Amino acid sequence: MENVIKIDNLVKTYSKKGENKTGLTAVGGISFTVQKGEIFGLLGPNGAGKTTTLEIIEGLNTQTSGTVTVLGLDNLKQPDEIKKRIGIQLQSSQYLHHLTLGELLDLFSSLYGKKQMGTDTRTDEHGRKQLLELVNLSDKENAEVKDLSGGQKQRFTIATSLVHNPEILFLDEPTTGLDPKARRDLWELVKTLNRRGITIVLTTHFMEEAEFLCHRVAIMDSGKLLEIDEPRKLIDRLSDTTQISFFTETKLNQEVFSGIPEIKKVYADYPKVILEISSLDKISAIVDLLKTKQIIFYGFTVKTASLEDVYLDLTGKEYEQ
Ligand SMILES: Nc1ncnc2c1ncn2[C@@H]1O[C@H](COP(=O)(O)OP(=O)(O)OP(=O)(O)O)[C@@H](O)[C@H]1O
Ligand SMILES: [Mg+2]
Repeated sequence: MENVIKIDNLVKTYSKKGENKTGLTAVGGISFTVQKGEIFGLLGPNGAGKTTTLEIIEGLNTQTSGTVTVLGLDNLKQPDEIKKRIGIQLQSSQYLHHLTLGELLDLFSSLYGKKQMGTDTRTDEHGRKQLLELVNLSDKENAEVKDLSGGQKQRFTIATSLVHNPEILFLDEPTTGLDPKARRDLWELVKTLNRRGITIVLTTHFMEEAEFLCHRVAIMDSGKLLEIDEPRKLIDRLSDTTQISFFTETKLNQEVFSGIPEIKKVYADYPKVILEISSLDKISAIVDLLKTKQIIFYGFTVKTASLEDVYLDLTGKEYEQ
């Protein structure tokens, strides 16, 4: 596996204005790598240090100590070369008024010094159209940003960060403030870009999003790295227990389930029954048993641990959105 980002013992402290006191440590000595082709998620509560970390990698901020290498380039010695090869979507973006999306894309493209957008063989117009098509805004080429919905604006921001064919794309909370449909559209876009070979580093306040999108996640709190791994591995490490719950019409005797040893616990509090099982394979055996014993049940639900549970366990905090 090829590392495209390598962070070693990264520290960022801010001094307190007008005082000689010890400053605030936004990032307190973290190390990690991001591999080529990954979707990598940085998670953590407000003030954890996610944006600070991203901004240092992106060359928009500098570290107090530690080393940062992006695509083999040093962030302090070669920031301009890094910027040419990465795309950045900030936590919030402002655009020039009275320019259409098409004109803005041309402007961004010229800022990067590219005569042609998209691939080097496309014409400007063709490249612009392909980019708008990619982010599903083909019909908005002549619209202004102020006329876009929140989700459309986020997708357009991503388009602007793609004009120079970056190898790594940074997305800081790309779906905050979007409705569920717009959020899912953005997930599709992120997956599409990743399938085209772009490495993606994102922050998010949605655990479901991180679980769905990210190959690996790093969980931060107060400038420290708490865990880093594939979401599934973090979840399995926390709990291999599945919870099944349902309601019954008649009161149940706990002994009913004694024939299924994979059931680790039975909570029967009429009308609700909760079973904890260690193997998902036994779900059908439980349903069969209830049918055989002619127990009428309803509201049957299966709940496995999620990244949300891992996050809560590590940080002790519900995610603020
Ligand atoms: N320019 C700055 N000067 C002083 N302190 C700063 C500055 N920028 C960030 N901080 C502080 O550094 C800490 C980390 O901030 P950062 O923006 O990296 O958090 P975050 O994890 O991105 O949070 P959020 O989820 O709210 O976006 C916070 O305590 C913040 O107040
Ligand atoms: Mg932030």
